[in-house]
Amino acid sequence: MSQQEKIALVTGAGQNMGLGVARRLAAIGIHVLINDIDADKAEAAASSIRERGHKASSAPFDITDTATVLKAVGALEAELGGIDILVNNAGNAGTRATHQISFKDMPTEEWDMYLKVNLYGVMNCTKAVLSGMCDRGWGRVITISSEAGRQGLDINVSVYGAAKAGAAHLMRHIAREVGPDGVTANVVSLGLMDNVPEEFTAPIVKTIPTRRLGSGDDVGSAVEYLISDGASWVTGQTLVLNGGSLAIG
Ligand SMILES: NC(=O)c1ccc[n+]([C@@H]2O[C@H](COP(=O)([O-])OP(=O)(O)OC[C@H]3O[C@@H](n4cnc5c(N)ncnc54)[C@H](O)[C@@H]3O)[C@@H](O)[C@H]2O)c1
Repeated sequence: MSQQEKIALVTGAGQNMGLGVARRLAAIGIHVLINDIDADKAEAAASSIRERGHKASSAPFDITDTATVLKAVGALEAELGGIDILVNNAGNAGTRATHQISFKDMPTEEWDMYLKVNLYGVMNCTKAVLSGMCDRGWGRVITISSEAGRQGLDINVSVYGAAKAGAAHLMRHIAREVGPDGVTANVVSLGLMDNVPEEFTAPIVKTIPTRRLGSGDDVGSAVEYLISDGASWVTGQTLVLNGGSLAIG
């Protein structure tokens, strides 16, 4: 199957990292389905890609709701064909601003805003596409994770980190389950990216060996590699994009 025949679903692709991934996949000929909970953002992103002469459709839905995801993915596949590539990108605190607070002080009511989008959202979308990928004998699942999911940090993001670690470990198990069916499952773990407020990033950038923050284009490059034929023997792995940092990145 050539790239021109493939269909990719990128979650949370209305802006920033997800949009960078969507643009990259579209640029190599893939039909990209732009998911976002914000329908206007999804449509604006899809139309900006179409204006460049590439294939993109908006696919707005809330990835945290299992029934919604199964129904929406079913409808998309019935209309356009099977989804070959899933990029689980939507994350952070979902639709709310990330609230950095220690675990001991975090109200238990806040746990769900991290777990739902970063863990259940990944489970929902992966569940929706995986059987079809296995039946067709080819598929790529890539989950965008965080360095907070690989290591303990002192920046008060413990529940977010736990959700990211859970989603990353799900990929490792799934990789073993579906490897014989031609489907790979990998993780891209991000350090500090260029959409984080400068007051937080300024002191940290100086400690990053490459002296810059990561971008959506960096994430797009990693995803482009992981979906390539050259990466067909790479599965259950974590590709770390953090500018060479040893700690938070
Ligand atoms: N930005 C960073 O520094 C950084 C660092 C490490 C990891 N990450 C991870 O990278 C990914 C992308 O980060 P970003 O900073 O570009 O995110 P962002 O917050 O800028 O964008 C996320 C998008 O997801 C959408 N979204 C939120 N909840 C949704 C839901 N329930 N259903 C569908 N869409 C939903 C939002 O509307 C938004 O457009 C996330 O998984 C994040 O956890 C980011």
